Amino acid sequence: MISDRKAFVRANTRLKPVPHVPEIMLHVADEAVPIWRKTEDELDAMGLPPPYWAFAWAGGQALARYVLDQPEIVSGKRVLDLASGSGLVAIAAARAGAAPVIAVDIDAFTEAAISLNTEANDVYVEIIVRDLLDDLAPPTPRYDMILVGDLFYERDTAARALAFLERHAAIGTLVLIGDPGRAYLPKDRLTWLAEYSVPVTRDLEDHDIKRTAVWLLSSLSP
Ligand SMILES: C[S@@+](CC[C@H](N)C(=O)[O-])C[C@H]1O[C@@H](n2cnc3c(N)ncnc32)[C@H](O)[C@@H]1O
Repeated sequence: MISDRKAFVRANTRLKPVPHVPEIMLHVADEAVPIWRKTEDELDAMGLPPPYWAFAWAGGQALARYVLDQPEIVSGKRVLDLASGSGLVAIAAARAGAAPVIAVDIDAFTEAAISLNTEANDVYVEIIVRDLLDDLAPPTPRYDMILVGDLFYERDTAARALAFLERHAAIGTLVLIGDPGRAYLPKDRLTWLAEYSVPVTRDLEDHDIKRTAVWLLSSLSP
């Protein structure tokens, strides 16, 4: 199954440098609509999630840039890239010296996309396809940091993600979020760290550039 998905990713994307993080190459689609249709038609499975993994989203690009420019923040740390998509942020963390790096996403296609993208960038990332957001127990061993690129675009997921991230921040995990100001970004809980003008796919965003910030989640006092 993973080999079929890898073949699909290879056939429908091109390996290109990420606009705001050109030292990283990703298998990306040129436009959203054709690959969206193909995911449904060729695999004969209507209702598949949109191929988020085929794009480098604004939040992920900003967070990857931040981590690569300040490798000391992640170097030697155990890092989880939540909502990894293409694996962009995980790859940046691995390049910056984090280990182990674990990429998690709910879309089964991400396993193929992240695996091809890590190979293309010569880094190793462990991949988990599962929804961790309702896990109440802290993982063992726990992560030192959780990086989240562009996950706050949908109400329910954003609420569950915030609760998950707050549970981790409460036990000392550093949580960094890259986000261009999506509708459900919990700004009142965040501290601004940096901001970039990130080139994005007009087809998806209606813009060529999106101002995108990197934020720190403040831990709530017990
Ligand atoms: C807009 S994309 C961002 C991908 C990547 N972080 C980036 O910035 O390029 C959002 C990703 O969140 C994933 N996602 C949605 N709900 C999730 C959940 N509950 N747990 C993990 N990933 C989730 C989607 O499958 C998708 O890959």
